[in-house]
Amino acid sequence: MTTIGFIGSGHIGSQLARLAVRSGYDVVVSNSRGPETLSELVAELGAHARAATAREAAAAADIAVVTIPLRNIDQVPVGELAGKTVIDTNNYYPQRDGSIPALDAEETTTAELLQAHLPSSHVVKAFNHIYASDLTSDPLPAGSPGRRALVIAGDDEHAKTQVSGLIDEFGFDVVDAGPLAEGWRIQRDTPGYGPRLDAAGLTQALAAAKRYRDR
Ligand SMILES: NC(=O)c1ccc[n+]([C@@H]2O[C@H](COP(=O)([O-])OP(=O)(O)OC[C@H]3O[C@@H](n4cnc5c(N)ncnc54)[C@H](OP(=O)(O)O)[C@@H]3O)[C@@H](O)[C@H]2O)c1
Repeated sequence: MTTIGFIGSGHIGSQLARLAVRSGYDVVVSNSRGPETLSELVAELGAHARAATAREAAAAADIAVVTIPLRNIDQVPVGELAGKTVIDTNNYYPQRDGSIPALDAEETTTAELLQAHLPSSHVVKAFNHIYASDLTSDPLPAGSPGRRALVIAGDDEHAKTQVSGLIDEFGFDVVDAGPLAEGWRIQRDTPGYGPRLDAAGLTQALAAAKRYRDR
């Protein structure tokens, strides 16, 4: 049985945990306040879910999901995630996260910041451009006409294959944007960020994305 460990169990984390349990995975959810604050979510998710500290969720994870405000990524456990595939859903909102100069200067991307914090993990950008509520309303079986597609970006091919499989099981097609450094193509304010697009539409949206400096 594969366990998905969640660092963060808010809008996106709880929705991905629902999809994971539906798809037959065990989940360990965590947040900043402690496992006792997640009892309602765990009761809803059922026998394949439990709550733990972030460190315990990271240690239990075969695949981890980091889905927290970007300003807190320095608090993500490092050693417990070494060697593991880590999904990064995070976006940069300066009004929420404070100013991050390397992002303001477009010298790096959100997922590369997490990768720098987790040098021995394999970070894959995913699920950052879909509204939390759409995660459970939009899934369709593979092969359905107009099936919604989601982007991945990452530097490790094995990790990308793992995450692609997960996305397909969750009910979405996958569009590979390339390495982590290309993740800016699906960041806030790009054409692919938010709308419901199939694989062809999302591929076009990635190609049409512009850097802030080129606008
Ligand atoms: N909402 C969306 O539709 C959406 C869509 C795509 C991507 N995103 C991005 O995904 C990330 C999560 O968004 P969200 O809407 O799910 O946020 P949210 O509802 O505010 O949930 C954030 C979660 O992170 C937890 N957390 C905060 N600091 C933590 C830490 N140091 N260690 C462990 N857990 C911590 C919070 O726990 P406590 O509540 O205990 O503090 C909470 O469970 C953000 O970067 C966001 O921009 C959001």
